[in-house]
Amino acid sequence: MKILGIESSCDETAAAIVEDGYTLLGNAVATSMDIHAQYGGVIPEIAARSHIESIIPVIKEALEQAACTWDDIDGIAVTYGAGLSGSLLVGVMTARSLAITKQKPLYAANHVEGHVYANFLTQTPLPGYTLPSNQPSFPLLALIVSGGHSQLVLFRDHFDYTLLGQTHDDAIGEAFDKVAKVLGLPYPGGPSIGKKALEGNPLAFTFPKAKMPGKYDFSFSGPKTAVLRTIQELCGKPHDFPSFELAGLLSEPQKADIAASFQRIAVETVVDKTILAYKEFQPASVVIAGGVAASPELRKQLADRLPCSISYTDPKLCTDNGAMIANLGCFMAKHQRPLADPYTLGIEPNLSM
Ligand code: KG4
Ligand code: ZN
Repeated sequence: MKILGIESSCDETAAAIVEDGYTLLGNAVATSMDIHAQYGGVIPEIAARSHIESIIPVIKEALEQAACTWDDIDGIAVTYGAGLSGSLLVGVMTARSLAITKQKPLYAANHVEGHVYANFLTQTPLPGYTLPSNQPSFPLLALIVSGGHSQLVLFRDHFDYTLLGQTHDDAIGEAFDKVAKVLGLPYPGGPSIGKKALEGNPLAFTFPKAKMPGKYDFSFSGPKTAVLRTIQELCGKPHDFPSFELAGLLSEPQKADIAASFQRIAVETVVDKTILAYKEFQPASVVIAGGVAASPELRKQLADRLPCSISYTDPKLCTDNGAMIANLGCFMAKHQRPLADPYTLGIEPNLSM
């Protein structure tokens, strides 16, 4: 069974072909990130326009990589939420049109569930991917950390899960992006903070970890504001001083120490709760999913502190991609999840787990 996955919820236009829920046959991504980087964050209108330009070439490229024709494709899965409305619409309308004209079953995929299913890809003939050798087992604890989500989810089985906790304000990736902006580091913030942190001392500053009422809930807005206040103090500037002018007043070693200290605290926050959940639920496997799952610091802290081994997927499959949606589509087909109506499927920008 071969499923075409289409993903366009944010700034990546992505399509992939996955076979049988574990083999990645083709994976193409076009990103408008370079344009957004000039503005320090995603501009929704630019993202939507870029999707329109890229979506057909990206689908064609995924089919070519997989050496597939439309006759080989058994179904189409598309992200219908959560995400930016204009971006989601392009993917959903494209998938609907293709499902009708090519007469394929259509699956409506939850973006965040998709991130988790990236970890179920174990084989590929494509060069340049490092995949886990085995699929994770249930019960499965998933730490989902991206630009839009910070969640701990316990899966008892496919499509049978409980949300243990989530962020009350910023997602961890969003906090990285905002702190990077104040430090004058390029978008996306996660990788640029990770890079800058290599030159800094992670113990130079002690930013507070948020204390939450929910055992597995997160908050990143407090630590993010603490960074801003620290920078204002270091620069001798009042709270109402324009934040975009602060980076120019910091030295490179100061920026590196702030990046390293913030990264340490943000990653520790999600690792602390993952370990707490591991102890309580004793899952058979733990996976990390979403763009921040590509972070070497997160992988290191988990490897050091988690009392079980954990296999990571390729960093290219942590940030938004079509492979995770195609693979989720494979499992939706296998488990006979309801089909979407290609004449009416709408978008759900605020879809939750
Ligand atoms: O999953 P994703 O591509 O999009 C969303 O669904 O949000 O995640 C994007 C987020 C951004 O906030 C970005 O800064 C972060 O993931 N990110 C990283 C890394 N690569 C992307 N954070 C830490 N380390 C990375 N290597
Ligand atoms: Zn994502």
